[in-house]
Amino acid sequence: MDILEKCRPWTEEHLRRTGRDCYFRTIGDTFDGTEAEFEGRRVIIAASHDYLGLSADPRVREAAVAAVRRFGTSLGGSRAGSGTLELHEELESRLAEFMGQEAAAVLPSGYQANLMLAPLLTDSDVVFSDFFNHVSLGEAVALGRAKERKFLHGNLDHLEELLQASDDTGIDGGKIIFTDGVFSAEGDLCDLPGLMKLADSYRARVVVDSSHDLGVLGQTGAGAGEHFGLRPDLVTSALSKSLASVGGVIAGPADVIRYLRFHARTAMFTAAASPANVAAALAALTILQAEPQRRIRVLDLAERLHNGLRALGFDTGASVTPVVPVLVTGRERCLRMWQELCTAGVFTAPMVHPIVRAGREVLRVTLTAAHTDAQLEQVLIAFEHVGRNAGVIPRSAPGSHTPVRIAHPGEAPLSGPDNVRLVP
Ligand SMILES: Cc1ncc(COP(=O)(O)O)c(C=O)c1O
Repeated sequence: MDILEKCRPWTEEHLRRTGRDCYFRTIGDTFDGTEAEFEGRRVIIAASHDYLGLSADPRVREAAVAAVRRFGTSLGGSRAGSGTLELHEELESRLAEFMGQEAAAVLPSGYQANLMLAPLLTDSDVVFSDFFNHVSLGEAVALGRAKERKFLHGNLDHLEELLQASDDTGIDGGKIIFTDGVFSAEGDLCDLPGLMKLADSYRARVVVDSSHDLGVLGQTGAGAGEHFGLRPDLVTSALSKSLASVGGVIAGPADVIRYLRFHARTAMFTAAASPANVAAALAALTILQAEPQRRIRVLDLAERLHNGLRALGFDTGASVTPVVPVLVTGRERCLRMWQELCTAGVFTAPMVHPIVRAGREVLRVTLTAAHTDAQLEQVLIAFEHVGRNAGVIPRSAPGSHTPVRIAHPGEAPLSGPDNVRLVP
């Protein structure tokens, strides 16, 4: 059997027929990070996780350009070899401090930051994973050859059953819980207090992937841990979201980070994060800390987006964050709506199986701090028009809706699904 045979049916026609042609589409020039040329028209980009709108900020761009001038485009080697600059070390110590951890390691991507967890695991250890975790956390489990017990999304009773069952079998390995801080598909927040309480009871460690909450949630923007006033054992994050760059970070106790640097082959045997990316993340971090108004702006816009969509009759799920999922049942309908929204000038992210469960299709909408009020209005107008045509919302707006409240810096934590105020 030819090992390449499985690829043959994947023709362009197959992609068109199965709706996959909405992925890997080429975007032209971008404007202020909020709009782009797309297939002959200018569209609002409502699918970027550049939450603070810093990727187009002149200070971030200039920092990247200056780093290229000084160090070139690539270090041509791994961090362990010729690829560690003071710039990497500065970013690591700044991020560790910001994330409330002792030490941090910077990687070329967020995916690799999660893979760096693998050397913590052995085949006698058990990882308890939320069903909706980012795929890279699951890859770390596979790479570490640990046993994986997946608990139903956000379901602490199920998690406790699995923890108890694991103790009952008398397995003598370690236990660790992996969760996203904010889940990337539907923008809901993990119940970190509940997870950490269970972890305490069952002597398990906790890892939080804070890619979607770092820079957005918490008093200083330090993410889900700060939002809940808690410190997980380890925190990972992509740098491609609020930090307007490309890269990843893992932060935790100094001895753990040192151990991982020397044991994670996905970090040892890969090229160092580029000077431009490291410098951009550093500049973005400085702005993030100096300009809390950006965080407030993205949270305000998100709240208005949620509530504008809900007022039209859309369901935005349990999200209480700037990741706004518009639930659109049906793969075909979701992909068709995505195309019609593009035609109406709004570029969103279509999430269909296998990214999400079949029957729980989502058009994910994210606005950044750089979007204007006028752009928010345009997004709502486009959704109203396209949603009515598709029969996802009624012809006339429903009389009432349940509003979403997003916790702003300094406010007590709010969490889904009913935006219940948790007792801190
Ligand atoms: C929750 C989460 N973790 C990890 C990653 C991976 O980050 P990166 O794109 O930098 O590899 C992403 C990005 O898609 C993400 O959303």
